[in-house]
Amino acid sequence: MDGPLCIVNSGEAAKSWTSLSSILEFLLKHHADQQSVLVVVGGGALSDVGGLAASLFKRGIRWVSVPTTLLAMVDAAWGGKTAINFGGVKNSVGVYHWPVHWIYDQAMLQSLNERQRFDGWAEILKHAIIGDSGLFQEIQAFWSSQHEKGQVPIGLLPLPTQDLIECALQVKIRIVQQDPNERNLRCLLNYGHTLAHALESSSPHYSHGQAVWLGMLFELQLASHSNLIAEDEALRILEILRAFAPYSGLLRHSTELIDIPTNDTPRGRGAIQTLSPMTGLFTNLPDWKTIWNFMLQDKKTRSGKLTWALPAKVGLGQTGVQIPNDKVMDLYKIWSSNPLI
Ligand SMILES: NC(=O)c1ccc[n+]([C@@H]2O[C@H](COP(=O)([O-])OP(=O)(O)OC[C@H]3O[C@@H](n4cnc5c(N)ncnc54)[C@H](O)[C@@H]3O)[C@@H](O)[C@H]2O)c1
Ligand SMILES: [Zn+2]
Repeated sequence: MDGPLCIVNSGEAAKSWTSLSSILEFLLKHHADQQSVLVVVGGGALSDVGGLAASLFKRGIRWVSVPTTLLAMVDAAWGGKTAINFGGVKNSVGVYHWPVHWIYDQAMLQSLNERQRFDGWAEILKHAIIGDSGLFQEIQAFWSSQHEKGQVPIGLLPLPTQDLIECALQVKIRIVQQDPNERNLRCLLNYGHTLAHALESSSPHYSHGQAVWLGMLFELQLASHSNLIAEDEALRILEILRAFAPYSGLLRHSTELIDIPTNDTPRGRGAIQTLSPMTGLFTNLPDWKTIWNFMLQDKKTRSGKLTWALPAKVGLGQTGVQIPNDKVMDLYKIWSSNPLI
């Protein structure tokens, strides 16, 4: 790759007018024109702001997406959605502007920390839950091959295999190709995101993946209490979401590791560690009023009514589900006091 380099803030801070305008200034300064191509290298936040800059500059120039995080590889870098956060509301300004090309290399993921790995896994789980029961089973198999039940090996959350990454991406590609402008089917990809965006808007402390993971737990409750999903199917989903809890960075006592001696390892040396019981260990979630105010700003809200995309069974979602606001409120109040129920 040859050409001038523009470096902007990383992380969610990148999705601001300041970063957007610095990219536009950079393009202007270097006399970019309709023949130019903006290559955006980074996580999902950068592809969101970089893609938006490309869409605006001289009424739109081409851009290439080079995702460097797991989340961006399986989700953000592909699908044409670009955005910045505005007025304290997540993704409130943006357009569809498709990259002309997309390049990724799994080797780039090795440097991701625990949180960044977890964030990517959250979107992979979402794709499996709403769109691919085979992928769901592969995740279960991958997970049990890495973990003994209820135990967490010391070390970083493992990265998914190349196959799992490809399968998760294929779910998004299949859905987006059928419904590029989010008229119906593409709304499935919003599973977990109605609460997630409200959480992210309410506090900068939630990463996108953490918020989506919490959102999936809550919205599973909505599906369950609306009789949209059978109990055994809901339990399968709950189980896999719970399996990732120790890596979420959301457990208040996540540093309290207890050594569990195994048959062949003496206590304290090489022993498998497990977390103290998870129930009730979460940091406080925002109250209903805060969440509701942000939900009303959501792009999915029409005249104060939300429509939900919820799992109907493992690998299959349903869009356009309407649930009375009072019922959502009651469930949120119960759920938020213990999100792992
Ligand atoms: N447009 C879409 O369709 C879509 C879909 C999903 C998510 N998103 C957006 O994506 C954003 C989240 O993306 P993200 O999780 O990639 O986070 P991110 O872009 O905020 O990056 C997280 C951190 O990872 C660092 N990083 C990037 N690559 C790295 C690497 N290879 N090794 C080590 N560190 C690296 C970054 O510098 C940053 O500090 C959110 O804003 C979300 O709204 C957009
Ligand atoms: Zn997402």
